[in-house]
Amino acid sequence: MKPVALLWQIALETAALVDAQAHQLREQQAIVDHITDGLLVVDRDGVVKHLNAAAGRILSLVPAESVGRKFSEMLDFEPIIAPILASGVGYQDRELIIDSPRRHLHLIDTAVPIEDRHGRVISIVNSFREIQRVRKVADKFNGSHARYTFADLIGQSEALLRAVDAAKKAARGFANVMLLGESGVGKEVFAQAIHNASERADGPFVAINCAALPRDLIESELFGYAPGSFTGARKEGRPGKFEAASGGTIFLDEISELPIDVQAKLLRVLQEREVVRVGDSRGIPIDVRLISASNRDLRAMSRLREFREDLYYRCNVIGINLPALRERPSDIPLLTNYFIAKYAGLLSRNVFGFSPEALERLHRYNWPGNVRELENAIERIVNLTEHPLVQLSDLPDELQDLVAPMAHAADPQNTISVPAVAPRSLHEVEREAIVAMLQHCGFNVTATARRLGISKPTLYAKVREHGITLERGPRAE
Ligand SMILES: Nc1ncnc2c1ncn2[C@@H]1O[C@H](COP(=O)(O)OP(=O)(O)OP(=O)(O)O)[C@@H](O)[C@H]1O
Ligand SMILES: [Mg+2]
Repeated sequence: MKPVALLWQIALETAALVDAQAHQLREQQAIVDHITDGLLVVDRDGVVKHLNAAAGRILSLVPAESVGRKFSEMLDFEPIIAPILASGVGYQDRELIIDSPRRHLHLIDTAVPIEDRHGRVISIVNSFREIQRVRKVADKFNGSHARYTFADLIGQSEALLRAVDAAKKAARGFANVMLLGESGVGKEVFAQAIHNASERADGPFVAINCAALPRDLIESELFGYAPGSFTGARKEGRPGKFEAASGGTIFLDEISELPIDVQAKLLRVLQEREVVRVGDSRGIPIDVRLISASNRDLRAMSRLREFREDLYYRCNVIGINLPALRERPSDIPLLTNYFIAKYAGLLSRNVFGFSPEALERLHRYNWPGNVRELENAIERIVNLTEHPLVQLSDLPDELQDLVAPMAHAADPQNTISVPAVAPRSLHEVEREAIVAMLQHCGFNVTATARRLGISKPTLYAKVREHGITLERGPRAE
């Protein structure tokens, strides 16, 4: 081949090669840009060598303008480079909280050092994602979910329906909700239903029982802690429940049990809409709806300075009272049938209902443990009974032992009414006996005295003593 032709041939092949390489580069670039994690490559001097589209969005930088510039000149924080350059060891899934005056970033970051042939670190590849996204994945698997919806709430009594109506209205808004009611009335069920009916239904539902947490761990449980902030804490630090609930709902059960200093911190969190972890000074923005619950009278507690009044008002923007079971006896048969069906199904037992006598006891009982107590009782009964219709003898002792009816079980449609016999003094009983016998004998004093087994003078003395007027009937003497 002539030299010119050879040159031409080489030029053509080179062009084709350059073209292919350019194509490959574009393709690689497109791949990197389609990764949804942020990708940032810096060299030993902290100069940006590559920044993908996701990193540009997360860090608010334009990729094309950023390459070739020092990272620290563009953002008011330094990536962690020095220790990696020195040790040649990167890290995996480290939490980075960047809370500078200009921006707040909360990321999970992995840094991998790239070495040259001589083992010298020449660049560091950082891949990161926003904590909010990480949380979503974690929530999906760790069960921070609300199970109950309003459809799961059993009961048709007016008192319950009023509470359900208020809760449905609360679910539509953003305001903090406080649920007040005795133990076992369904506060947690309501809290979950409100969450599930709200715009936050896709976010986490995180429930904490303030009474169940040890006093010295409450603060770090709720608000998290900074790395190495107290003895026993894990070195990396940990987010608290408020951060975990971000984007969703936090349910603080038995809020009355929060120590007063934690109440102060909670108030700040609600006001500032950010948490500061224990041992830290940086604020982490959070977006949570608070639903709290209590079975104690918080207003009375705040008068005694056991509960902060300002916190009470902040938590109680919408207050909902959940009625005790004894205040809505018409729900007892509904709940009973529901729980029988549930446990008979679960335990594969042929139990279909309650005998009238057994149902009457359910109505007369006080139910101090409310729906939870009823549910537990029925679970036990379905387990143990040998009758398709539950009999009196199947009931727990406290129901079998019921003798006098309780004054509160007064729902004429649902209770078998037995006249209430209030305890009275002997004096009252005597007066009633004399009046009744006088009426019976048409106010004939002789007949009355004889029937009562006392003398006429004694009867007159008693009539005076009790201030009874002797009406003269037609047969009177
Ligand atoms: N209206 C209802 N319909 C169906 N089940 C209910 C209803 N109310 C309560 N329950 C059931 O009763 C039990 C107790 O309810 P929940 O845990 O919500 O009570 P609580 O008010 O939070 O009690 P505590 O104050 O003791 O925490 C749960 O198992 C729940 O399923
Ligand atoms: Mg509860």
